[in-house]
Amino acid sequence: MARVKLAPSILNADFRDLARAIAQVEGLADVIHLDVMDGNFVPNITFGPLVVKAVRELTETPLDVHLMIAHPAEFVEDFARAGADWISFHAEVTRHPGEILGLVRNLGKRAGIVLNPQTPAERVFDHLEITDYVLVMTVMPGFGGQEIIPEALGKVGEIKGEARRQGLSLEVEVDGGVKAHNLDAVLDAGADIVVVGSSIYSAPDPRAAAEEIRRVLDMHPGIT
Ligand code: DX5
Ligand code: ZN
Repeated sequence: MARVKLAPSILNADFRDLARAIAQVEGLADVIHLDVMDGNFVPNITFGPLVVKAVRELTETPLDVHLMIAHPAEFVEDFARAGADWISFHAEVTRHPGEILGLVRNLGKRAGIVLNPQTPAERVFDHLEITDYVLVMTVMPGFGGQEIIPEALGKVGEIKGEARRQGLSLEVEVDGGVKAHNLDAVLDAGADIVVVGSSIYSAPDPRAAAEEIRRVLDMHPGIT
C-alpha cells in the first residue's frame, strides 16, 4: 500500500512569515512544492533560488521545485545549489527534454517533467527511462486558486500504463485545483503525489486544512 504523498504549494502562503507557513505543514508534507515563475513562460512572476534557499533553511522536508520558466537549463544548477531536491520543468519549453532531465540527475536531484493540461501524455513517453516523476497540470500554470480541469486527470493512468509497459516505475504528481471535494477523483485517477496550494493556505486554519487532506490521503490505498 503506497502512501500517497502530500506536496503543499506555498504559492498562496503568507509570504510575510514563511517560517510560519512551513511550520503549518511540517510533519504533514512529504515534500514542499515551490512554484517558480518567470513572467515569460507564464503570465506571473513569483520567486527564484533566494526563496528556495530560505525555505531550505526552514525545514528538512524535501523541496519539490516546479520551474514554470522559459529557459530551465540555464537555472537548474542555481536551484540545485539553493537546496532543491526535486526539480521539474515544462515539456512545452524544449524539444530535447532528455538533456534537461540528464542535467538534473547529474546534479543528484530527482528529475521531473511537467505537462500542461492540453499537452498529450505521449509527449513524455520517449523519456520515461530518465524521468523520476511526471507532473500533470490540472490547471493552466501561473496562479493558485483555480478550478481543476478534470479532463487532464486521464493522463495519470496513461503515463503509469506506459511506464508499466516499459518496465519502469515512476511517480505521477497532480498539480492544480486539488480540493477536499475532488481529492477522491484525483486519487482514483492514480496520483502518487498531490499538490495542494490554496486549499491549505487560503483556509482559515492552514494546519487543520492540511491535516484533513493528510487524513483523506492516508485512507486511500494508492494505485500502483
Ligand atoms: C500553478 C502552480 C500550482 C498551484 C497549486 O501554476 O503550479 O502548484 O500553486 O495551487 P492550487 O492548489 O491553489 O491550485
Ligand atoms: Zn506547481
